[in-house]
Amino acid sequence: MGGRLEGKVALITGSGRGQGEAEARLFAEEGARVVVSDIDRHAAEAVASSIGERAIAISLDVTDANAWSGAITSTTTAFGGLDILVNNAGIGIPPRLIEEETTEEHRLIIDINLHGVWLGMRSAIPVMTERGGGSIVNISSIDGLVGVAGMTSYTASKFAVTGMTKSVALEVGRRGIRVNSIHPGVIETPMVALAPPEVHLRLGEILDRQAIPRMGTPKEVAYLALFLASDESSYCTGSSFVIDGGHIAGPYRDDFTR
Ligand SMILES: NC(=O)c1ccc[n+]([C@@H]2O[C@H](COP(=O)([O-])OP(=O)(O)OC[C@H]3O[C@@H](n4cnc5c(N)ncnc54)[C@H](O)[C@@H]3O)[C@@H](O)[C@H]2O)c1
Repeated sequence: MGGRLEGKVALITGSGRGQGEAEARLFAEEGARVVVSDIDRHAAEAVASSIGERAIAISLDVTDANAWSGAITSTTTAFGGLDILVNNAGIGIPPRLIEEETTEEHRLIIDINLHGVWLGMRSAIPVMTERGGGSIVNISSIDGLVGVAGMTSYTASKFAVTGMTKSVALEVGRRGIRVNSIHPGVIETPMVALAPPEVHLRLGEILDRQAIPRMGTPKEVAYLALFLASDESSYCTGSSFVIDGGHIAGPYRDDFTR
C-alpha cells in the first residue's frame, strides 16, 4: 500500500462500479479513507465492504440536494472532514440525431451530468473551506472538449462540466481548494459494455484511429484522478486533463502511422 493520499478523506460519486469503483479502490490503497457513494446502494456497499475498514458506503443520487447534505454529514461524521470530492457519476444516452432526442432524455442527462456536479461542488466547498483546502475532480469527457455528432445532449452536459470547473477554480483558489476536470476517451466500463449494439459495431473502427488503438482501463483513469486528488498536483487548478489514447490529438493518417 502506498501513501499518496495518507490522512485524506475522499467522497466519490457513482463509485459502485466502473471508473468510480477503480478510484475508490486506488485511493484507499494510497491511504485515503473513502466514502463510496452511488444511487445503487447495493453496489456501493459491495465495493466498500471489499475495500474494508478504510471505506463506508452511502446511497447518494447526485441530483438530490437534500441527499447531498446528508452525504456531507455522513462523511464528516465518519471521518472528521472532507479533502477530496470526485464528481464521477454520469450517464450516457444512445447516440442519435438532435431531432430524435427526447426532451425527457435531454433533461435527465443534464440533471445528472451537469446539475449533479454543480450540486456536488456547492455542497463540498463549505466543508473544504472550513478545513483550509481540498481537491475537487470533475469527470467530464473528451465530449466536453470537442463536438460529437449524435451526442448533442451528452456534449452539452460535459462541456458544462469543463466550464464550471474553471469558474469554480477561480472562485475558490485563495481558499486552498483546487478544481480540475478529467476528460476520458473510450474506457472499458459497464457504461460502454451496456451501450447499444450500433455503438459496439463501430467501436473497433473508432479505436483503430487512435494513437493507442485500444480502450483505456478504469485503473488508468484512476491514476490520473489520484494525481489530481493528491498534493502532487498542488499547482494545477482550473485545468482540463485528457486521457484518451490520443483520440482527440488530431486526424488520423494511415500513410504516416507505423
Ligand atoms: N466509460 C467511458 O467511456 C467514459 C468516457 C468519458 C467519460 N465517462 C464518464 O465517466 C464517468 C463514469 O463513467 P463509467 O464509465 O464508470 O460509467 P458506469 O455506467 O460504469 O458507472 C456509473 C455509475 O454512476 C452511477 N450513477 C448513475 N446515475 C447516478 C446518480 N443519479 N447518482 C449517483 N450515481 C449515479 C451508476 O449507478 C454507476 O454505478 C461518467 O461521468 C461518464 O460520463 C465515461
